[in-house]
Amino acid sequence: MDDTSQCPFSGQASKCPITNDNGSFDPKHFNAFDTSYQLDPASALRWSRDNLPVFYSEEMGYWIVSRYDDIKTVFRDPILFSARNVLQKITPATPEAIQVLKGYDYGMDRTLVNEDEPAHMERRRVLMDHFLPENLAGKEAMIRRLTQEKVDQFIDSGRVDLIEGLLYEVPLLVALHFLGVPEDEIAKLRTFSVAHSINTWGKPTKEQQIDIAHDVGQFWQYAGKIIEKMRAEPNGKGWMHHTIRKNKELPDVVPDSYVHSMMMAIIVAAHETTSLASANMFRTLLTHREAWEDICADPSLIPNAVEECLRYAGSIVAWRRETTAPTTLNGVQLPKGAKLLIVQASGNRDERHFENGDDFDIYRDNTAEHLTFGYGAHQCMGKNIARMEMRIFLEEISRRIPHLQLADQDFVYTPSTSFRGPEAVWVEWDPAQNPERTNSQIKEQVVHFAVGAPQTQDVARRVKVVAIEKEADNILSVVLSDARGRALPNWSAGAHVEIVSGGFNRKYSLCGKSSTSRTSSDHNSSDHTNDNTSHYKLAILKEKNGKGGSQYFHDHLREGMTLKLRGPSNRFHLDKTAAHYMLIAGDIGITPILAMADYLKDIGKPYHIHYAGKAFSKMAFVKRLETDHQEQFTLYVKSTGQRADLAHLIENLPQDAQIYACGPERMIEELVMLTEDLPEDSLFYEYFSGTDTLLDPEKEQAFDVELMDSGLQLTVNHTQTLLDALESAGIDIASDCREGLCGSCEVLVANGKIEHRDAVLTRAERAANTRMMACCSRAQNGATLKLSL
Ligand code: FES
Repeated sequence: MDDTSQCPFSGQASKCPITNDNGSFDPKHFNAFDTSYQLDPASALRWSRDNLPVFYSEEMGYWIVSRYDDIKTVFRDPILFSARNVLQKITPATPEAIQVLKGYDYGMDRTLVNEDEPAHMERRRVLMDHFLPENLAGKEAMIRRLTQEKVDQFIDSGRVDLIEGLLYEVPLLVALHFLGVPEDEIAKLRTFSVAHSINTWGKPTKEQQIDIAHDVGQFWQYAGKIIEKMRAEPNGKGWMHHTIRKNKELPDVVPDSYVHSMMMAIIVAAHETTSLASANMFRTLLTHREAWEDICADPSLIPNAVEECLRYAGSIVAWRRETTAPTTLNGVQLPKGAKLLIVQASGNRDERHFENGDDFDIYRDNTAEHLTFGYGAHQCMGKNIARMEMRIFLEEISRRIPHLQLADQDFVYTPSTSFRGPEAVWVEWDPAQNPERTNSQIKEQVVHFAVGAPQTQDVARRVKVVAIEKEADNILSVVLSDARGRALPNWSAGAHVEIVSGGFNRKYSLCGKSSTSRTSSDHNSSDHTNDNTSHYKLAILKEKNGKGGSQYFHDHLREGMTLKLRGPSNRFHLDKTAAHYMLIAGDIGITPILAMADYLKDIGKPYHIHYAGKAFSKMAFVKRLETDHQEQFTLYVKSTGQRADLAHLIENLPQDAQIYACGPERMIEELVMLTEDLPEDSLFYEYFSGTDTLLDPEKEQAFDVELMDSGLQLTVNHTQTLLDALESAGIDIASDCREGLCGSCEVLVANGKIEHRDAVLTRAERAANTRMMACCSRAQNGATLKLSL
């Protein structure tokens, strides 16, 4: 046994953290081949996420990593956390199997997934052009044609195994076409692919190992023959032809051994993962019927629904890394050579990153941040082609067979630490109800989607206006419920939603009662409840000098009508660890403050609300504040000569208090100035509106960025934002407002001077020069920025 396979706590005087009270979870004997993990890896690791997010399994000889942030930390440092063990057999080969492989001259070596820096990034840069979004758009017609041909074959049958009928062969054909590999021996490739997956990530018995070794050996030889065939066509199309040409041009960067290993690995990577992910997607959506019906009614929801399926039930559930030096991860010491099993399926359900992570919600606005494609330098290069295929499968089936149901069946999964998907997905429907029997146009009414991660703007649920009331002059309160009577998602104090109607979309804070808060310091707990999911309440101020949205809502919203709603999202979190809270609201800024006050009252924390406005008649919720918050509430009405003396309030701030403020920009600026000498994290605020953030190509300067985690270099030209440039390079970045207001596109900056143009960061945060909003901020004077991306 070497030092990396021993329990690191053996022999230490301190109490072993792994044997603390942990219910039925047994970290020492955790095994990824146990039934609980095989059935549901995220649930199997729930205890670990909440109590012991990095632990050593003696039984596996691996360190298991279960939280989102820790998994991302591992992915973002390919030097400290080497990818060299990714393709190692997790179940060691028997001597007999090794002999069989030798007989085939099997020599699987380095590929893009298991190679270290700097060779990996040098090669990846040379080979990634084919995967860029602009070069993938042309593939849609081919995927659509193949999908339609397959659906035509079974649409009148009334029953099919979707994997046999569609989800295996189409991804394989797409992969072969993309690679430029001949399509002659599809059945053989299927056997080979399964053998390669079981060989690497599965648990074959001694006897199975022999058969699998023969299949893997034959696959190796078959890959070699294809390469020879392809070398004879120097101008052939497809990524493998491109790789072979680069092998000739740059043999040091793309050596022969790499071409052979890659040919074998990419055939599996390019289709097996998409097939399994698509199978998981149909199983998940058909067991969440409401989501399925929403997609059938509104196909614009499909891109986000695909991401949510990848988050909730992705096909890659865990990946591996090995430390190249002693280090610590979330406070746990790891020796050099420690083997890590990083469980993306667990990170994808982590409540610290995904609110209500165990819920399946196709309207989730940060779902594309899932880890199923990995992250950083080794992120899946084929992610956008996989997305394209899954979207087309879903769009074609939901349009042509919306009445599809899952058939009664037992789902069977091949044991694997890392790949997950059922072997069959049987579905049934009544062909007489097929929409195209009464409307032949249905087949042609395809919906196209842009390549890349989904845009938050496309994700909206339907809600009904339940009540409208005048709260004050020019302020209406609006109560909304789900249009189909379902529960709305939980939300926490400070959250907002976006209303979409009449061509306008505007964000409003939620101000109903009894919301709950999830806080930055809450990271050691997944405990949060909410009882306010039947209705949302918000208040809309009619802005005289606005762009027309609030005016439109005042003029057109009526009880009973339906609207679209995005969110909720929360970028104004309440930290529930403070000793005291000073809540300051100016004008309509009372809305998030009211939700915070209600919550603080509920949990028994000391707080005081200071609410300032121009005139009593223009101030919303005063009566409710007086009734519900009594001595904790002070009102300042300018027309009666009462002004909030902010300097005085800050001077008298109780010890260890936090300030939460929402109001006009002027008020926030004054608070920022007054709190400059207070400890960091004393002031949290939200503006009504940002400064001018729009791109003016005539005045802009181009600048370069280096993406440290992905190893890419990009130029942001004068007609682009940094966000545009990142998206064109295939980097997934969350975005929402795209004008510097919401904070969703924040990126970390390791080096280079930033010109901040957002309304999100505080003055101190700007001065720190470590974060920027990619949708609007730029480099100062054309400087180069190094980003942690
Ligand atoms: Fe909202 Fe950039 S997308 S700040």
